[in-house]
Amino acid sequence: MKKILNLLFLSLLLSNIISCSQNKTSKSDADMDRFVDDLMSKMTLEEKLGQMTQLVVGFDTTGPVMSKDVEEKIKAGLAGSVLGIYTPEAIRKLQKIAVDNSRLKIPLLFGYDVIHGHRTIFPINLGLAASWDLDLIERTARAAAEEASADGLNWTFSPMVDITRDPRWGRVSEGAGEDAYLGSRIAEAMVKGYEQNDLSKDNTILSCVKHFGLYGASEAGRDYNTVDMSRLRMYNEYLPPYKAAVEAGSSTVMTSFNEVEGMPASGNKWMMTDLLRNEWGFGGFIVTDYTAIPEMVNHGVGDSSKVTELSLNAGVDMDMVGEMFLKFGAELVQSGRVSGKMINDACRRILEAKYKLGLFENPYRYIDENRPKERSFTPEKLALSKEAAVKSMVLLKNDGDILPLDPTRKIAFIGPQVERKRDLIGSWSAAGDWTQAVSLREGLEKKFGKNKFLYAQGANLLEDTALVKKLNDFGSLIEISNKSPRQLIQEAVQTAQRADVVVAVLGEAFSMSGEAACRTDIGLPENQKELLKALKETGKPIVLVLMTGRPLTLTWENDNMNAILETWFAGTRAGDALTDILFGDVSPSGKITMTFPRNVGQIPIYYNHKNTGRPVNENEKYTSKYLDVSNEPLYPFGYGLSYTEFTYGDIRLSADKLVPGGKITATITVANAGKRAGTETVQLYIRDVVGSVTRPVKELKGFKQITLQPGKSGSVSFEISDNDLKFYNADLKYVVEPGDFTVFIGGNSRDVKQADFRME
Ligand code: BGC
Repeated sequence: MKKILNLLFLSLLLSNIISCSQNKTSKSDADMDRFVDDLMSKMTLEEKLGQMTQLVVGFDTTGPVMSKDVEEKIKAGLAGSVLGIYTPEAIRKLQKIAVDNSRLKIPLLFGYDVIHGHRTIFPINLGLAASWDLDLIERTARAAAEEASADGLNWTFSPMVDITRDPRWGRVSEGAGEDAYLGSRIAEAMVKGYEQNDLSKDNTILSCVKHFGLYGASEAGRDYNTVDMSRLRMYNEYLPPYKAAVEAGSSTVMTSFNEVEGMPASGNKWMMTDLLRNEWGFGGFIVTDYTAIPEMVNHGVGDSSKVTELSLNAGVDMDMVGEMFLKFGAELVQSGRVSGKMINDACRRILEAKYKLGLFENPYRYIDENRPKERSFTPEKLALSKEAAVKSMVLLKNDGDILPLDPTRKIAFIGPQVERKRDLIGSWSAAGDWTQAVSLREGLEKKFGKNKFLYAQGANLLEDTALVKKLNDFGSLIEISNKSPRQLIQEAVQTAQRADVVVAVLGEAFSMSGEAACRTDIGLPENQKELLKALKETGKPIVLVLMTGRPLTLTWENDNMNAILETWFAGTRAGDALTDILFGDVSPSGKITMTFPRNVGQIPIYYNHKNTGRPVNENEKYTSKYLDVSNEPLYPFGYGLSYTEFTYGDIRLSADKLVPGGKITATITVANAGKRAGTETVQLYIRDVVGSVTRPVKELKGFKQITLQPGKSGSVSFEISDNDLKFYNADLKYVVEPGDFTVFIGGNSRDVKQADFRME
């Protein structure tokens, strides 16, 4: 009997598949609706809850829980998606079980954290953001989608668009930094790169905006911690990138671990339904973060059954790894605590995503054993990795033009990061292969041969054995040398003494940033600082090259080093890119997208702050400041030097009045006053001088890049319309208010020219 039923369902499904593929070119919403209606009419409640469940298998997990009996659950129709595996072989095996052995043969979605590249790794996202190059960022997302889809995947948990103002938080490495405008443009570029507005291709994948929402505002920069802020701040400062990604067509959204207004995001009806679906019109599906539903019990909003009820009623569609819908969903529906409609809507959205991907037509469309070879690690992708690395690096200091280096001089490369490869691909590079990354030493030797420079290790990456153990338990491969720290430093000093210039290559292990990798002291590890102090005593000029996943506090380094170059974790071609930058084949052009504080006590610190009633005045006691350190950051948002020098003329406004619906143009002349070619990111900021609510001292509203040969200049123009002046007022209405505005243009958020206009 069962066999007959199975055959019957199979033939029904096949007829659906055939009619669907006949209509493939039109693929109208009506076709999809008919198909999904038909399929859902055959589904039991358990099967619907199964579609709403994501299991984790395999090699990479990001939480403490692993799914059990995965194959059995797939056979029983109790899984809609799987996360944590890739390769066509591994994915084919599970897809085959779903398609051959489950009652309704519904194919699975395969999700994975493809965050800054899949196999070919690009710089960490904070580094990519520092390029301010949207086209480049889109191309990296595109390349990542090509490699991921070649590996059988059809869903990435990216872009991560959490605005953050706290570099103690380890996950700053995954996002675009502190600014909502830049974050929004980057979010759009990434969604476009992954999805191309066309999921029917075999090399586009679902994107997933995360973590919705406000995750980057975790108190004290501690991961998973409480978030609390006014709606005014949410709307103006934290929500725009999520909204921009949704408007750019992102197919899925992931909830965040934190609470918002006293309710964890995964149970927050206001966020998931009122805001995301009703206000923003999001039509895709919502997945929770990893076990976020059961974790709501720890948050203290109910027992397991209650938190499941909360999340279903909030509008969550898929449970990542928690299996709470499987356990409690049926009972909640039967007792009337959750309506059948909620379940139907959620299941429908997931089936729609599968339909749009073409999985009902061909469940194996992403699975082809030849594709990884054809599409991964191609010369184009490796070249893109180098281009992205070059464009992400930020020159923070360069006294006396010590950089670029002159290869005819004697140069000593000193530090644990000269040769280490493990860190170069950064955190969240799950399918990346760090052994394929090019170290700085390899980059140097490729270009200059083996015996050109002097080398010394100088220090271990870390001396703190308890921390080393914690990090090594998660694959950091940090080695402590047999030589004592003193011996390492002595060798380094002797090496430095034989050189004309020292390049100290220091920083964090990759695992010192990323998820659950927060720090209260964000300076260089003490033992690395000891090395720098000893090198400083040699009197040799020192270039400090940093590899980090976050802004560090670099006050001492800024006072004592001749040059500082921030290279982040620059990806597969890090060493090649760094060699080119150090020797001036290309000038650095990156600009930081997070403020670098002078010390941890200044945090949170960000450029688009409000004025107080008592703005800082160093000569007056009762003003808003610290006794022990200035209010100014070490390096402001948008800052980054070049090997050449750019000078700015005055701002020319096409008019000093803007009328509703009109435009004015702000133009500035930028000149390359130095001796080398270079690219400058020209930034436009606006201040709303008087508002119905207080407004920031300035906000980024545009940016453009210009490449200039030495001695040349060019004009850069920005059109300003009333749209650029809008903000959310106290009623959360998006309005423009007439009055005075100031325009600022410059090469960073601090050093700007300004002009005024009025909005009529
Ligand atoms: C992270 C997400 C990630 C998910 C799946 C979670 O721990 O917060 O960013 O996408 O795991 O790996």
